[in-house]
Formats: sequence, structure tokens, C-alpha cells
Amino acid sequence: MGDQQVVPARTWTHRWTFVLAAAGSAIGLGNLWKFPYMAGVNGGGAFVLAYLCFIAAVGVPIMMAEVALGRHGRHSPITTMSELAKTSQASRWWGVSGWISAVSSMCILSFYSVIAGWAVYYTIGMFSGTFDHITPEQADASFEALTLSPLRMTVWHSVFMVLTGIIVARGVHKGLESSLRIIMPSLFVLLVVLLGYSVMYSGHFMEGVRFLLEFHPEDLTGQALLAALGHAFFSLSVGMGAIMAYGVYMPKKESIASTVAVVASLDTAIALVAGLIIFPLTFSQGMEPNQGPELMFVTLTAVFSSMPAGQFFGGLFFLLVSIAALTSSISMVEPLVTWLAERFAIKRAVGTTAYCLLAWLLGLGTVMSFNEWSDKLFLGRTFFETVDFLSANITLPLGGLLIAIFASWVMKRSLIYKELNLSTGGFNVWRALCRVVAPLAVLVIFTENFLG
Ligand code: PFF
Repeated sequence: MGDQQVVPARTWTHRWTFVLAAAGSAIGLGNLWKFPYMAGVNGGGAFVLAYLCFIAAVGVPIMMAEVALGRHGRHSPITTMSELAKTSQASRWWGVSGWISAVSSMCILSFYSVIAGWAVYYTIGMFSGTFDHITPEQADASFEALTLSPLRMTVWHSVFMVLTGIIVARGVHKGLESSLRIIMPSLFVLLVVLLGYSVMYSGHFMEGVRFLLEFHPEDLTGQALLAALGHAFFSLSVGMGAIMAYGVYMPKKESIASTVAVVASLDTAIALVAGLIIFPLTFSQGMEPNQGPELMFVTLTAVFSSMPAGQFFGGLFFLLVSIAALTSSISMVEPLVTWLAERFAIKRAVGTTAYCLLAWLLGLGTVMSFNEWSDKLFLGRTFFETVDFLSANITLPLGGLLIAIFASWVMKRSLIYKELNLSTGGFNVWRALCRVVAPLAVLVIFTENFLG
């Protein structure tokens, strides 16, 4: 087995590298593109409140479990789960959770790359002045022109997938530490600038705040709850081993709880700020918040086109969105490629190529679902909506559920207790959340949606 290749020769230099890498995985299209559009489609405040509760009560404890398992196991998620099942004298069927994760990561990467491809296209379009001085209608029309062309979408999807593949094949560990130190702060600064713009110039800031925070209980449908639960997993990158794979590199002496708290807070703050930027600007353009996937692209393109130095800021924004998507997509590929190297001694480059090629092929379905196949529905959903629903709303929560049950019920208490290194009270809270609250939340919402 290529153990030396895959087990880190060193851990990351300090805690902040883990925070940056985990934040790099968590912060991406989920915060900037998906959260606002899902809040828009699901009525705003009720969805946001449910999402925040799921992050705190379900996502954070499972993220802690993932980091603890990764740091303890020091192998790819699939191997870690099987090895720990063995040492805990549990059924080897626990290895199945690894396969659920593989389905999640393949499905997510397939559509993620298509949407990130849009961001790459908009980056180039902004910097080259294509969107200078256009009306909201023209912004809408140019988005439509992009999505109606399978060829153009495939080109940008391919560009993004190749970039992801190159970075993973070269080894995530190299380069990540230094590049994330620049990318993440730049993204924060630009978001603060855009937030300032939204507060001062949208003229609809409070309307946006109300939309995001006003709670209407009638919006809290079973479907909205499932969407919020799924999005909590998606946004934190938990439920498929991505965070577990990074946990391998976390120094032993660092506190998992406080590190996870920082990552989850950053992730949530960025999603809320993205909402506070996008909704007021959407209202200021006379647009509807429930447009769906085009929300960020159309609204912000229209806004940047009329803003002073808008093409520059727009280019910068979409560039940072593309890079944030890239630091997320590499974390989707990493766990499986590490496992292939570990289990079958397959070279990173070969494993990465095979994996990205499969995800790219599956992504063609998402490309087509915006044009040629837009009327081909499966249970009322397009191909893109089906793949998104299957991964974010079913396999991620299911994977997360298994991780929570494994860490809190199956694994030896002493092992996980030592790894988490919490006070006894803190440990008991974590264990109650993983043992009871997370499984109940997932099961109740699944039952309500699929059997109710
Ligand atoms: N958390 C990422 C985002 O919000 O864009 C998406 C993601 C990355 C989901 C990695 C799952 C994952 F394992």
C-alpha cells in the first residue's frame, strides 16, 4: 500500500491552516450562490431560521465527529471508517458509509463544476467589459444565452473540471496553505465592500433584511425543512468525508471544538452576508428574489454594470467566487483519490483523472437540463435538480447520520472522548446531539418528506 504517499509526512503547521482549508472547503458556491437562491425560493426568514438551527444542532456536532475521526484514523475516510469499525468490533457494513459519500461527492462535483463554470465565464466577461452598461433585462438575456448553449456551458464546465483535477493531482497539501492565506481574506474584504455598497446605494437594504429574517411560520413546510437540513450539510461540507480527509492533517494538540466553531461561524456569516448583499440589490433592480439558480448571476451582473468601476469589481467578485468554488471542489475529490491511492496503489494523477472524467460526464446531464432536456422531468425535477436533490437532501444527510451514529454509539467512548478533548459536560452535550438530536432531525424530516 502506498502508505507513505497518503499519510501526511507532517501535519499542517498550525491550527489556522486547518481552519483555512476547512473554510476553503465549506465556503463556496453554497454560500454565495445556493444559499441566497434557496432562501429566495423557500420564502426567506423561515428557511434561514431552520438552516441556522440545523447548522448549530446537527452540522457542527457532525463536523466535530468528522474531524475527530479523520485525525484519529489518519487515512482516507473510507479506510478510517472500516478500520475503526474493526477496532470497535462493529459490523464491517460501516464501510458502506464510504460508498454513500462517494455517491454524494460524485453527484455534487458534477453539477458544482457546471455552476462554477458559469462563474469563470462571468469573470472573463466582466474583465473584458462584455457586461458594461447593460439593463437588468439584458443581464437576464445574456444569462439565458449562456445556459441555452450546451456547447458554451460544456466548455466552461470542462475548464473548471480540468483546473480541479490539476490541483488535486499535484497534491492538495502543497500550495493550499499559502494560497488560502491570500484568497480567503480577499474574499472577505470584497464581500464587506459589496455589503457597504448594498447598504448605501441599494435603497432597499431594510427590505432585504426583512426578507432574510422575517419569520412566517406558514413557510416552514416539510419541503423547506428538508431543503434547510440538506443545505446545512452542503454548506458545511459535512456528510461525505471531505472534512474528515482534512482532519487527518490537524495537529493533535489543537482543540477540535473551537476550531470547528470558527469554521462554522465563518461559513454561516458569509452566507448571511451574501444574502444581505444580494436581496437588497435584487429589489433595487426591480427583480424577484425567487428566480432560482440565476439569482446571483443576473442580479449582480446588472448591479456591477451600473456601478462605478463595476466591471473591475465584478470581475474580481466572480474571480473570487470561482476560486472559492475551486477550494471546495478539490475537497470533494480528495477523499476518494486518497482512498484509491491507499487501497489500490493507484497514482494520484490516474485516480484524479478517472474520477474527474466520470464527474464531468455526469455534469453533461446538468448542462443539458438547462436547454435540450429542460422539459425532461423525473418526479417533477430536471436532471440538475434531481442530482442536487439526491446528493444534498438525501445522501449527505444520510452520510452525516451514519458518521454521527458511528462516532457516538459505535466507537469506543474513550477514543472519541480523548480525541475531542472536551470537558465532561461539553462531551455529554456533543454526544446527546450526535446520538439523539441529529438522527431524530434527519429521520423526522425524511419521514415527513418521503413517507408522509
Ligand atoms: N461547502 C461547499 C459550498 O458551500 O460551496 C460545497 C461542498 C464542498 C459540499 C465539499 C460538500 C463537500 F464535501
